Amino acid sequence: MLQSVRWFRCTLAALALSWGCCAAAGAANGAAFLYATRCASCHGARGEGSAKAPPLIGSRAVYVHFMLDTGRMPAGTFNANEVSKAPIFTAQQIDALTAYVERFTLHPKLAMPVILPGNIVRGRTLFDADCQQCHNAVGAGASIGGDNVAPSLMNATVFQVAEAMRSGPEMMPRFGPRVLSDQQMSDIARYVNYVQAEQGAKAEDAGGISLAHIGPVAEGLVAWVFGLGALVIFLRCIGEK
Ligand code: HEC
Ligand code: HEC
Repeated sequence: MLQSVRWFRCTLAALALSWGCCAAAGAANGAAFLYATRCASCHGARGEGSAKAPPLIGSRAVYVHFMLDTGRMPAGTFNANEVSKAPIFTAQQIDALTAYVERFTLHPKLAMPVILPGNIVRGRTLFDADCQQCHNAVGAGASIGGDNVAPSLMNATVFQVAEAMRSGPEMMPRFGPRVLSDQQMSDIARYVNYVQAEQGAKAEDAGGISLAHIGPVAEGLVAWVFGLGALVIFLRCIGEK
């Protein structure tokens, strides 16, 4: 009796596992196709880079995800200074592509930002110390010399703000967990979100269009919690092969 219960449990577990890994394998095939058709012409078939674009070998998962999530990649033209635009991929495709690109790296850095409930007051102090010199006091963006622009933060989601800190795109320094803890990073992201809502309310008062208010926090977090779960499971599955 005991044995058959155990057998039953094992079968269930195996079924669940194989189902999960088949789903992941399907996603991996989809990602391989997306990579081959949308990225390889510039970044090389295995992320080795080319005259047109830098290698992706060694890129942190968070950076790859950021580039796709903010619509910076795939780049439209060569060597253009990429700015954020609506992503062309779905959240699932972005997760799958990120995982696929990480397979080019022997010891990939897979850590993704951990977002905690943030504190606006602490976030403001940290923002003033670490971010406003480039992005302006209210995150409106500013030129930082040459052709380089620190963009407006007014459309970035909470998660994108966190991703930017953890990846350090182009001229922006990387703020790793030793520089800004998960709590400090979350405080800053929360503060940016608060400023977005404030600016949106002002625009509305002035008769302008209503910008996204609190919506993006909740939606962003929910999408992220699910997305992260799927990505972690996915990375584990492909990691075992
Ligand atoms: C038309 C050429 C082109 C295509 C297509 C393209 N990229 Fe890029 N990519 C670039 C260039 C140029 C850079 C460096 C300049 C920049 O960061 O904007 C870059 C930078 C990146 C970076 C940052 C690398 C680093 O170390 O700075 C990542 C990650 C990235 N691309 C991922 C992708 C992915 C994933 C795809 C496919 C969905 C893709 N790219 C498609 C041209 C391209
Ligand atoms: C030295 C100047 C500099 C500092 C300091 C800096 N950034 Fe940036 N930041 C940039 C630049 C330049 C870019 C654009 C990079 C690109 O296009 O690849 C950027 C991009 C971003 C983006 C992406 C916005 C978008 O268009 O999608 C976010 C979010 C962001 N920064 C947040 C922050 C936060 C939060 C801090 C403070 C912890 C910070 N930055 C500190 C220069 C800076």
